[in-house]
Amino acid sequence: MRDFKLADYVARRSELMELMGGGVAVFPTAPESIRNGDVLYPFRPDSDFYYLTHFPEPSAVAVLIPGRAQGEFILFCRERDHEKEAWNGSRCGLIGAVEDYGADDAFPIDDIGDILPQLLEDRDRIYCNMGRYLEFDNKMLQWINEIRGKKRSGINAPGELIDVAHILHELRLIKRHEEIKLMEIAATVSSAGHRRAMRACCPNKYEFEIASEVEYEFKRQGSYSTAYPSIVAGGKNACVLHYTNNTDVLQDGDLLLIDAGAEIDCYASDITRTFPINGKYTGEQLALYEIVLMAQKAAIAEVKPGNNWNQPHESAVRVLTEGLLELGLLSGNMDALIEREEYRRFYMHRTGHWLGLDVHDVGDYKISGQWRQLEPGMVLTIEPGLYITAADDVDSRWHNIGIRIEDDVLVTKLGQKIMTNDVPKEPNDVESMMREPL
Ligand code: GLY
Ligand code: MN
Ligand code: MN
Repeated sequence: MRDFKLADYVARRSELMELMGGGVAVFPTAPESIRNGDVLYPFRPDSDFYYLTHFPEPSAVAVLIPGRAQGEFILFCRERDHEKEAWNGSRCGLIGAVEDYGADDAFPIDDIGDILPQLLEDRDRIYCNMGRYLEFDNKMLQWINEIRGKKRSGINAPGELIDVAHILHELRLIKRHEEIKLMEIAATVSSAGHRRAMRACCPNKYEFEIASEVEYEFKRQGSYSTAYPSIVAGGKNACVLHYTNNTDVLQDGDLLLIDAGAEIDCYASDITRTFPINGKYTGEQLALYEIVLMAQKAAIAEVKPGNNWNQPHESAVRVLTEGLLELGLLSGNMDALIEREEYRRFYMHRTGHWLGLDVHDVGDYKISGQWRQLEPGMVLTIEPGLYITAADDVDSRWHNIGIRIEDDVLVTKLGQKIMTNDVPKEPNDVESMMREPL
C-alpha cells in the first residue's frame, strides 16, 4: 500500500464536516462480491469512503459527527483474527484504525447494529449515499425505524436524509496537491504501457496479446489494477466504443485503438492512442487521424480557468466537422452541419469527462442550467474521435476506421497541463516508437 499523510485525510474530513455544519455522515465502503464458487472479485474500496479515510479493507463503515465531544471520526472495521489472517492476510484491527488511520473511536463492524443507531439518536439529519448499496440502505432504514420506536422515551430520530454527493463531490472535483501527485504517477505508468504496446504491435498477433503487454507494464510499475477494462480494438472493432472482448487477430493494414489506464492508489488515468498495426498509416487513416489530432489539440487549448466545460467540446466538434467537410464525408454548410449535429454520425460521444478516483469521476457539469467554469485543480480527459463503419453510406475506402486520441489534462492557474504527454501522438513519432524493439 502507498504511504499517505494522515493530515491530508484529517483536512478532507474537516472540510466536509464544515460544509455539513451538523448532522451525521455515514459512508460504507464497497461490499465484496462473489465471482463464482469460493472466489471473490478483487476488492476495490468505495471511492467516497477511500477519499475520506484511505482505509483499504472491506467490511468497514466511516461515520463523521461534527462537534462530537468524544471525537468526530468513527470507524467500524473488522477485528484482528489470527486464524482468518492466516488464510486471507493481515487486518488492521481496531487499534490500527485509531493509530494508523486516525479514527477517534473504532468499533467492530459486527457491532454496528448496536452502536450506530445510538450515534444517530437526536441528530437532525443524516448525510449518506442512499441508493448506492441497497443492502446497507436497508440496514440504515431499519436502524432509523428502531430510533423512531423510542419516541416516547424522548429520543428523536433524524428528520432528514440528505444526499452527501452534493457536497462531497464538489470537494472531490478539485484535486488536492497529493491527489495530483498520484494522478501524475498513474498517467506516467499508463503512458509506459501504451508505449510498450506500440513497440509490441505487429500483424497477426491477437488483441489480447497486446492487452497483456499494456497491463504487464502497468503491473510491473506498481498498478494493482487497471482503472477500467482495457479496450484493445483492431480494425472495425475500434468503432465499437466499449469493445473489451480483445479476442481478434490484428490485420495488416488496419488500425489498432487502445484505450487503457492504470490505477494507482485508486486514482485513474485514461489514455487512448490509435496506431497502424503494420507501423505505417495509410493515406485514408492518416487523413482522418490528423483531423482527430487537430480537434484534440484545439480542445485542449480551450482547457483553462474561466472557460466553461463545453468549450473544449465545441472546439473539437468544429474542427472535426471542418475536416469531414474537406474530405467530402459531410457536405453542406459548416454552421448548419454543426447546428444539426451531423457530425454525430461519425462522432457520437462527448469530448471528455472528469477524472479522479473514478475514471468517469464525480462532479456536476452544469450549475443552475449553465455549463460550469473550469477551475485550477480539475482534471478531465480530452478524447475526440471519428468512427466510420461499413454501414456508413460513404466510399468504402473510409470503412472500418475508428480513431480516438485521449489525454488526461489538469486545469492549472495559467491554463492546462497534459499529464499524459509521454505517449507519442504525432504520426511520425508514433511510427518511430513502433520501430523501437520491445
Ligand atoms: N475509458 C473510458 C473512457 O474513455 O471514457
Ligand atoms: Mn478512455
Ligand atoms: Mn475517457
